[in-house]
Amino acid sequence: MRKPIIAGNWKMYKSFDEAVEFAEVVREQVPSEDKVDAVICAPALYLPTLVDVVTETDLAIGAQNMHFENEGAFTGEISPSQLASINVDYVILGHSERREYFNETDEAVNKKVRAALVNGIVPIICCGETLEERESGQTEAKVSTQVTAALEGFTPEEVKHMVIAYEPIWAIGTGKTATSDDANHVCGKIREVVEGLYGQEAAESIRIQYGGSVKPENIEELLSKEHIDGALVGGASLKVDSYLKLLEAAV
Ligand code: G3H
Repeated sequence: MRKPIIAGNWKMYKSFDEAVEFAEVVREQVPSEDKVDAVICAPALYLPTLVDVVTETDLAIGAQNMHFENEGAFTGEISPSQLASINVDYVILGHSERREYFNETDEAVNKKVRAALVNGIVPIICCGETLEERESGQTEAKVSTQVTAALEGFTPEEVKHMVIAYEPIWAIGTGKTATSDDANHVCGKIREVVEGLYGQEAAESIRIQYGGSVKPENIEELLSKEHIDGALVGGASLKVDSYLKLLEAAV
């Protein structure tokens, strides 16, 4: 039985005060960590404060990106060991916005996944197809390529603890959600890819989220599907009420 994981990705939204207020309110109402992993992936400069605010609660904090080196002359970057040093638990890697606007490659994502594990941070590895790729029947090939590249060079035991987020790019921030059956179908294909690479136990243990216009109105249907173990949520994670509803739906 896989524990659901609901991760909010705040992207480049919220002032510092808004972020702290959100965490202070949500930490009091978040369901038990025994039932659902509740994560907020916040802008990097808020992370140390938010980690302090949620200490010893059932809310966890994640980053939205990181470099793959632990240190070096990389102006403007944040390293995995720096994130680990302030007790960040999760990191989103290979989000389609990073791939599109910041030229993040499959190779870089793979290095980042390795660096996350070395530093004890759970990677949330994103994959997903464009509308053009979907319409030309390339969805499965695209996610398979991305997942295979991201997971290259690990052990089955390492893979078991990772999280993959399937986010069709055309569904992100557009209000268009993949149907729950479509989303489940692709998440099932991703699980088959993991099984082919690392065996049945790893495939049955790894958690696969769906992302793309997830909101309180559609999350129950998505989570009812066999291969969907949670959600990576942008817009609907920005408001306390709607984020809490998403968590409640997962319990
Ligand atoms: O990481 C989150 C996704 O990009 C989904 O964003 O829920 O606003 O569509 P959205």
